[in-house]
Amino acid sequence: MSRRTHPATPPAPPRPWWHDAVVYQVYPRSFQDADGDGVGDLAGIALRLDYLTWLGVNAIWLSPIYPSPLVDFGYDVSDYTAVDPVYGTLDDLGRLIAEAHARGLRLILDLVPSHTSDRHPWFQASRSSRDDPKRDWYLWRDPAPDGGPPNNWLSHFGGRAWTWDAATGQFYLHSFVPEQPDLNWRNPEVLDAMAGVMRFWLDRGIDGFRVDVIHNLLKDEAFRDDPPNPDFVPGPGANPYHSLRHLHSSDQPDVHRLLRWFRRQIDAYPGRVLIGEVEYGSSVERLARFYGDGDELHLALNFSLMTLPWESAAIADHLARYDAALPPGACPTFVVGNHDRARVATRIGPAQARVAAMLLLTARNTPFVYQGDELGMRNAELGPEHQRDPWGLRVPGHGRDPVRTPMRWDASGHAGFTTGEPWLPVGDDAGTENVARLREDERSILTLHRRLLALRRADAVFTLGRQRVLPLAGDVVGYVREDGERRVWVALNLGSREVEVETPGAGGGTIALSTALDREGEAVGRSLRLRGDEGCVVVLGRNSGRGTSTPRAGRAGPHDRGWP
Ligand code: BGC
Repeated sequence: MSRRTHPATPPAPPRPWWHDAVVYQVYPRSFQDADGDGVGDLAGIALRLDYLTWLGVNAIWLSPIYPSPLVDFGYDVSDYTAVDPVYGTLDDLGRLIAEAHARGLRLILDLVPSHTSDRHPWFQASRSSRDDPKRDWYLWRDPAPDGGPPNNWLSHFGGRAWTWDAATGQFYLHSFVPEQPDLNWRNPEVLDAMAGVMRFWLDRGIDGFRVDVIHNLLKDEAFRDDPPNPDFVPGPGANPYHSLRHLHSSDQPDVHRLLRWFRRQIDAYPGRVLIGEVEYGSSVERLARFYGDGDELHLALNFSLMTLPWESAAIADHLARYDAALPPGACPTFVVGNHDRARVATRIGPAQARVAAMLLLTARNTPFVYQGDELGMRNAELGPEHQRDPWGLRVPGHGRDPVRTPMRWDASGHAGFTTGEPWLPVGDDAGTENVARLREDERSILTLHRRLLALRRADAVFTLGRQRVLPLAGDVVGYVREDGERRVWVALNLGSREVEVETPGAGGGTIALSTALDREGEAVGRSLRLRGDEGCVVVLGRNSGRGTSTPRAGRAGPHDRGWP
């Protein structure tokens, strides 16, 4: 046998799955209850996997399922390596992973390393005495000379970030509520413990982590005061947390060293993804830094579509600058909704929520869809008796309960979410705004999501294609996705008035999808008439009519296996 003398060109590394994925966020308490206690659970999620494959997403991110006293609804973890009995057991999780994988769905867990619950045995040990071996796992400091807190740092959820512990005569730091003490990420023992936690779940077959508040992991070693924020406008609705600039209490430069450490843990398990929650309002440059030299986050969550004014100039400018700022090979992300902020249909209205869906699912990025946004769910009107969120209880107006109400599956009692009493009400319009009805409606927002997801799956231009943002045309944001000869134009009217926009290039095109779902196949000449609040995907070029078909709701597609 002849020995090869010239090494063959190494094959291109396979494209990581998360570059082509659409991630669906499941808020486990509110997705599906299988045991009738009014709270969603893992067995319930398993019952609804066929819905997710029918919809056409590729990955599920579960908000925390760990044991928790629920002061911050699971983001206060009291045991990192167990499942809270309200959600089920480790075996239920194993079954869910297997059933998801059998359908080609990935499963991502939330990891909350910045803080634990004050009930976590680590903190119980740490607060037991100044000499406890775990004392330094948390951030303990002596009082200031006047006996007050060691510095002026503030909690995200209102009030000081320090709580006095009379038994041991020191303050401990908590960036959120006092029941969420911050871990000391400068202590190598904390890193070792968390590496064990990550291995525990990765060994069980999960496909990666969404890491909570990564900018919050490290603090200034000298614990200097944060300076005042000159742009802060006090008043009703203002979040007092923003009265300071968090130069020292968060986002320290050496967090990148730590992210490289997280990445090494993940890289030991090929094919697993590391996603990070980065502070809202981060500049594109700051987002880009979290990718490092390809050795930090795989995906940094970008919340700009939730925080920027929903105006064409701001959105188009962001699209262009974001794409340009990311390092080569880095995959952008967009989030239009999650369990922390007002529902997209409430923020920008139901008509623009459809435009936002088209942007999310056609722009160059790995999209994150929050459960219920595909139904156009709005913030629920909840009475004070339903106020559970600690943020809302501490800072009026900031409660997140209205965005965490249960999924609506059908018109039966409690919308098919539970046979018991739901932990939060399903809302008045659940009788009509539910999966069962909306999937039968050819023009519904659910059908729109499914058609967009099908289009994205069917045409690699949406995943592989470059993106060129077009000059602004009034209220219209436009971009062209290009992959070789294939060119697709997306035109989004962020205004409510009809407009005529020029078609890019000379060849005209064919509408593949309108947000109104009533123009598929329409020929486009030198210009396109967009109705108010309408977005269109147009395949450019003379022969563009061919190969643009997308499975309609109800028509059999590769993921059609029916659903419960
Ligand atoms: C989570 C919130 C949580 C906070 C503190 C966030 O970013 O998404 O729900 O309250 O971290 O853990």
